[in-house]
Amino acid sequence: MTAPIQDPAAAFRLAWSGADPGPTDHTTRPAEAATATRPVPLARDGDGTGALLALSLAADPDRVVGGVRLRRVPSAGGRYPVDARVGGRVHDPLAHALDGGPATPDRAATDRAEPDGHTDVVLDLVPERTVWRYGPRSLLVLLLDLGHAAAAVLAAAATLRRPRTAHLVPDGARSRVVLTTGPGPDDAVGLGASADPHPAAVLRARRSAPFENLRPPVADPGLDGVARTRLGAGQHAAVLGAGHPLLAALTRRACGLPDLTGVGGLLVVTGDVDPGPDTVAQHVRAGLAVHDAWLAAAAAGLAARPVGCWVEAVLRGPGGRGRVQHALALGG
Ligand SMILES: Cc1cc2nc3c(=O)[nH]c(=O)nc-3n(C[C@H](O)[C@H](O)[C@H](O)COP(=O)(O)O)c2cc1C
Repeated sequence: MTAPIQDPAAAFRLAWSGADPGPTDHTTRPAEAATATRPVPLARDGDGTGALLALSLAADPDRVVGGVRLRRVPSAGGRYPVDARVGGRVHDPLAHALDGGPATPDRAATDRAEPDGHTDVVLDLVPERTVWRYGPRSLLVLLLDLGHAAAAVLAAAATLRRPRTAHLVPDGARSRVVLTTGPGPDDAVGLGASADPHPAAVLRARRSAPFENLRPPVADPGLDGVARTRLGAGQHAAVLGAGHPLLAALTRRACGLPDLTGVGGLLVVTGDVDPGPDTVAQHVRAGLAVHDAWLAAAAAGLAARPVGCWVEAVLRGPGGRGRVQHALALGG
């Protein structure tokens, strides 16, 4: 299933209906990463662009699962559909290098130098990487992945004491996020700035724990409040505690049916029930919110795993009805 995603409203409805992606054809699996043809290696230390990307989007040198090199940033199914560009050059997250561009004799040496720490970082989606695996479910997880990537860069920028601001240019499965140290593009949706910094060790320790390891007790450090700072109008965040009656109902509506009934808690982000003008931005915000909450959970010594695909999961709460957009299962 590799059909392109066109009309976002139709794509949201199809995803929420639980349409089956069908069997995966591994012979057509696209590469999970951009490859720099003339790689210009980036630094990992210091506080410049290299350090920023090393702490946010680059591959973790120590983690390989099923042939996929895992990264500082999470991604639904390890598909990694977000590419970063700095000064127009794509980041190769496996080599941790920027593409050096075409080899021409008159290229100035400065073209191959590391960009300064104020150069915009642009996050682009490469939908094919996710559509290959998730078919009709793809738009949701593409936008959530984009939100996680934006949050990872904001968090790394905070840690390096070089805070940035994130701006969304919404365009369905071609949406992008621009991370600046100054003003953003005129027509963009503001997603907020770097929050209070975490130690680098917290960013490096983030990983998805198996659901069966997520057990009570969870001393919730106020994760709903952390998540809410990233949400927009019509969105809500709440933590369901261990044993909450909704956990069984949500288990039946989570793709892959992970058993959520025994987890130590579930942070749930809800938003528009029907597709509207804000639904694309809401999903990117949900990714940001869950990522920030995940880092806060990691800082508090909790384990976590996100849930990104929900089939017709609509909750009724104090703020009215809301569709489940994203969630983070928690354990002590
Ligand atoms: C948006 C999003 C949705 C995800 N949804 C699920 C899910 O529904 N079920 C699951 O088991 N893991 C889910 N994950 C976790 C990924 O599988 C995991 O991030 C990936 O395998 C990389 O591993 P890491 O997070 O340990 O680096 C999701 C991750 C993201 C970012």
